[in-house]
Amino acid sequence: MSFRKDFMWGAATASFQIEGAWNEDGKSPSIWDVFCEEPGRIEDGSDGKVACDHYHRYKEDVKLMADLGLKAYRFSIAWPRVIPEGTGKVNEKGLEFYSNLVDELLKYNITPFVTLYHWDLPYSLQIKGGWLNPEISDWFEEYTRAVVAKLGDRVKHFITFNEPSVFLGCGNLFGVHAPGMKCGSRDLLLAGHNVHIAHGKAVRAIRELAPDAQVGITLATMPRIPNGDMDEKAAYDIYFSCHKPFFVWSDAYWADPIVFGHYPEDLVNECKDIFPKVTDEDMKLISQKIDFIGQNIYQGKYEEGYERPRGTPHTEIGWDTFDSALEWGVKHFYKRWKLPIYITENGLSCHDWESLDGKVHDPNRIDFLHRYLRGLKTAADASCDIRGYFQWSFMDNFEWAKGYNPRFGMVFCDYNTLKRIPKDSAYWYKEVIESNGENL
Ligand code: NOJ
Repeated sequence: MSFRKDFMWGAATASFQIEGAWNEDGKSPSIWDVFCEEPGRIEDGSDGKVACDHYHRYKEDVKLMADLGLKAYRFSIAWPRVIPEGTGKVNEKGLEFYSNLVDELLKYNITPFVTLYHWDLPYSLQIKGGWLNPEISDWFEEYTRAVVAKLGDRVKHFITFNEPSVFLGCGNLFGVHAPGMKCGSRDLLLAGHNVHIAHGKAVRAIRELAPDAQVGITLATMPRIPNGDMDEKAAYDIYFSCHKPFFVWSDAYWADPIVFGHYPEDLVNECKDIFPKVTDEDMKLISQKIDFIGQNIYQGKYEEGYERPRGTPHTEIGWDTFDSALEWGVKHFYKRWKLPIYITENGLSCHDWESLDGKVHDPNRIDFLHRYLRGLKTAADASCDIRGYFQWSFMDNFEWAKGYNPRFGMVFCDYNTLKRIPKDSAYWYKEVIESNGENL
C-alpha cells in the first residue's frame, strides 16, 4: 500500500517566523511585533523585524526548495500586510508579494498551500478586542476574500487556521504568546466560538471565489499512544475527551463542531452557564464541508503517570521523541473524522551549526525523521487516507517565545549574514521524496 503516487512531500513556514520586513510596503504591526517589544517576553530578547529576510530573498529560497526536490510548500499570509488596519483598505503591495511568491513556486512546479492565519493578527484588531470581539469573523472573512480574490486562480489548497488551540491556549489562556492574555473559561469559550465562526465564513468565501480549491484547518496534535493499561480504545477515548478549563487544547473541541456540527456534549453540559449563545445558523456555518484536516505532530503522550526511562531522547526545545506519534495521530483522527489528512508540520529542533567543512551535519534529525516517517507509513498501510507531509520547517526561524535558539530547519540560516545552507538532512529528505518514501 504505502504512500499514494501523488503524495505531497513538502515543507512549511509561517509569515512572522521568516519574512522580516516588518514595516515595509505598508505593513502594520501584528500582535507579535508588539509582544516582542515587551522586555522578557522572548527568551533571547529577539523579534521578527528581519527574521530570515524571506520577504526580500524569496526567489533564492524558492530556488533552494526546487533544488531540494520539494513538491509542495506551505506558507502563511500576514494579515497586517494585506489589510494593515485589519479591516477596510486592502494594501495591494502586500498582496503583490504573495502573488509573486506563488508565481515563483509554480515556475518550479511546487504546489502552494496557503495558511490564512498563523497567529500574526493585526495589532489594530487586538485593540478592538481581537478574538473576543464577535465582529472578528466578519473582519476575517473580508481578509480571506482579499487573499482568495488575488491568489485563488493559482492556489488550490487553503488552510483557514493554524493550531487554534495554541494561539488561544498560549496567547489567551496562559499568556505566554501574543497577545499575552490570561482569560477565564467564559472568555475563552467566546473567543473559540468566534474562531469557529470565522472559519465557517472563510470556508464559504473560498467556495464562492475559488470553487475548485481544497479547504481545511490545521490542528496541533499530541496523540495518546497505547501502552500499559491504555489500549487503543482507551487511548482514543482519552484523547478526544474535552473538559474545562483546558478544552481549547482538545482537538475534539475544534473539529467536532466542524465535522459533526456540534460542540462536544460533555463540555457543553459542564459549561451550560458560561457557554456563549450558539444558534443553529452558527452551527450550519461552522459545519460546512471541508476537504481535509491538517495535523501538526511533534510529540505523543502515553498513559497518565507513565514515566519514560531516564535518557529518553529529547529535542533541543525539550520535547521527548515518540517514534509512533505520526502513526497514532493519523489513526485516531482518521477513525474519528474520516477525512483526508495532511501532516502539515513535523520536525525536530536541534543545536545545528556550520561545521569547519562549511556544511551543517544533523544526524539526529535524519534519524528522527526516519523513525517518524516509518510510523506514518504504518498508518498509510493501515488504509488511512494520508495525502501529504510537510516538514517543519523549510528553514531555521523565529520560534515564537523561544526566539532564534531552537533550529527546526531543513536549511540552516545564519542570522548574522542571512546565508542559507541546506543541512545533511535536507539531502536525505530529497532522497525520501525521490523514492516516494520507499527507502524508509
Ligand atoms: C507549530 C507552529 O505552527 C509553528 O509555528 C511552530 O514553529 C512549530 N509548531 C514548532 O514549535
